[in-house]
Amino acid sequence: MVFLDGFAGPGVYQGGEPGSPQIALDALLKHNYFPQMSNKHFVFIFNEMQADRCESLAEIVAEFQRQNSPWPNNVGVSVNNSSFEEVASEMLQYLEQQKANLAPTFAFVDPFGVKGIPMALLARLLAFRQCELFVYFDFNTVNRFAAAGNIDDRLTELFGIDLYKNARDLAGTDRKLFLHNLYQDQLRSVCGFPYVHSFEMIREDGKTGYFLFYGTRSVTGLRVMKDAMWRVDPGGGQKFSDFFAGQDVLFDVEVDTYPLRLELQSHFAGKLVSVEELEQYVLVNTPYAASHLKRLTLKPMQTDGLIASPNQKRKGTYPAGTMIQF
Ligand SMILES: C[S@@+](CC[C@H](N)C(=O)[O-])C[C@H]1O[C@@H](n2cnc3c(N)ncnc32)[C@H](O)[C@@H]1O
Repeated sequence: MVFLDGFAGPGVYQGGEPGSPQIALDALLKHNYFPQMSNKHFVFIFNEMQADRCESLAEIVAEFQRQNSPWPNNVGVSVNNSSFEEVASEMLQYLEQQKANLAPTFAFVDPFGVKGIPMALLARLLAFRQCELFVYFDFNTVNRFAAAGNIDDRLTELFGIDLYKNARDLAGTDRKLFLHNLYQDQLRSVCGFPYVHSFEMIREDGKTGYFLFYGTRSVTGLRVMKDAMWRVDPGGGQKFSDFFAGQDVLFDVEVDTYPLRLELQSHFAGKLVSVEELEQYVLVNTPYAASHLKRLTLKPMQTDGLIASPNQKRKGTYPAGTMIQF
């Protein structure tokens, strides 16, 4: 598998915090399954366009490899000093020449601003079935310039379409939703990701910082990403959130599952459904993780008499095959 960090940064920050490359390498080496995956090959491509940052990154990565020697020979690491567009185009050219498919790839695309991540390029690069995208969407810049007319070339490249201009007639939450949904729809239709989920970063002042969009063709991918995002504490009083049924659902330690309960009640009213179907619905159609369904939502709903089950062995437990009557 390939981990492509297209905008990899300097590798370390002023307070000594590790950058995304080291975090990714560390996550693999410390993974419980890593010792059992010696027959799998992992390739990390770290790309950084700015020369001094790239130099710093190369040193940090080399030091990390020294600290973890002997370095596993099934993990390849390369540090590149190019633009993301160049790296992606080179990868595509190579694959076209080899008549090969890209190995399962997780592309982390974390630029400053809105430049250098054309929708069309992401679509070509990530066209293969097992490729996934995690991309930073600079909402504040998009929102500021959507109707200004002075960076339309960049915005058209970013969205792969110029419909963002219609934001000029909108304000507030409507405008935010419109721009968010347009980018989401483009990731679905142009990149061909059936599952696109966004995570909104709420700043300490309550305003939107940015969005992270995740695109995948796998429900399992969606499950894993949601579990991970619900566990992340971005720090500094900031929180991840998702806009759902007209309200913000904050990704917090104390999960408020009340909006999920209301959604299930209205969507499945009068129906008999399996717990698997419910789990799929929660994953694909709500901000919640699958792990929020049983103990935090179904169990209290059953206690309150809102659901029943014709085949449950023990009240409050929902193993595979359990049918739920709403
Ligand atoms: C937000 S930072 C990345 C942070 C990094 N992902 C981390 O978590 O440590 C964006 C980086 O992209 C670099 N950059 C800017 N334009 C680029 C381009 N077109 N291609 C590749 N890198 C670029 C910048 O120099 C900067 O270091």
